[in-house]
Amino acid sequence: MNAALRTQHLEQALDTYPRLLERQWLAADEETLTQAYELGRDLLAAGVTLLELSDLHHRVLAEWAAAGPGLSHGRVQAAGRLFNEVLAGYEMLLRGYNDANHALRGMNERLEDQIEQIARALHDESGQLLAAVLIRLDQAAAALPPQLRNEIGGVRQLLDQVEFQLRRLAHELHPALLTDLGLRPALEFLADGVAARSGLVVGIEGALPQRLSRAVELCLYRCVQECLNNVARHAQASHVRIQLRSRGDALEVRVRDDGRGFAPQRLDAPARGMGLTGMRERLRGVDGELDLRSRPGAGTEVRLLIPNVFQGGRDAGASAAGR
Ligand SMILES: Nc1ncnc2c1ncn2[C@@H]1O[C@H](COP(=O)(O)OP(=O)(O)OP(=O)(O)O)[C@@H](O)[C@H]1O
Ligand SMILES: [Mg+2]
Repeated sequence: MNAALRTQHLEQALDTYPRLLERQWLAADEETLTQAYELGRDLLAAGVTLLELSDLHHRVLAEWAAAGPGLSHGRVQAAGRLFNEVLAGYEMLLRGYNDANHALRGMNERLEDQIEQIARALHDESGQLLAAVLIRLDQAAAALPPQLRNEIGGVRQLLDQVEFQLRRLAHELHPALLTDLGLRPALEFLADGVAARSGLVVGIEGALPQRLSRAVELCLYRCVQECLNNVARHAQASHVRIQLRSRGDALEVRVRDDGRGFAPQRLDAPARGMGLTGMRERLRGVDGELDLRSRPGAGTEVRLLIPNVFQGGRDAGASAAGR
């Protein structure tokens, strides 16, 4: 947000607000309240924060109180009414934000359902098809001369690998381990798969003192999955380190690679992929945040932070059975 524009709007408001207040005390008409509402919307659009607004209101009231014979109960009430009108735009924004978060959670749940269906199709249907191919191949091989049978044996070995990889990908996509054993074992399984496919050395450090809610575990699993995808696709790295650690009641997960890094500020919106945006949106659904540090030539670190997940927080006592 443009700081000069914000300051300019705040200075103008220092002039407008006392006049509106005076009119509210004198007339208390709809027109004054409408103007207060519009003032609030302008300030919101200019990036003026709630605290700055509250500060403005109290400054104006304090100046009135200091200059005059004091503020009557009626005047304080009328000023409160005016202030509520200024705040209306902020209130609507907050409601919109809450609605959007709610919708986002619903979308993520639907996305998870779809991922589960894809994982099952990959696991069951492709698995059965491949099994059928292997049986037909064995039957065909039996009727062939030994030299050709060896050739078929080589093809069979490749198909075995395809089947193994498909099963693995299905398990990574929809990790039963996450539900049964929790985040760390599921991340270890994921890391092993990425390491085997990409040649990266992936290390995991840190343990969690307790299980977390399904939403938090799934969010972090998907975020780390995307981080590892990004490292494998973009970083040209040789090592990745995943660190889990509690910070008070918050949980922090860091994924750091030693690759070529990039300039995050250069990511222009139209060309940008979905991965980082998707991570941020998922994290917002659990009140978490993402911090990305990267420089060309200096690797990349993605830090995922979710507050209030332990002890007195929302996940107190979360267990595999009762979550
Ligand atoms: N670990 C990393 N090392 C180097 N560059 C990275 C790394 N992570 C992200 N980037 C850069 O940031 C860009 C945006 O990443 P993002 O995950 O949002 O999109 P993407 O990976 O290009 O596409 P998508 O995730 O939608 O398949 C990447 O295209 C890449 O240029
Ligand atoms: Mg990506």
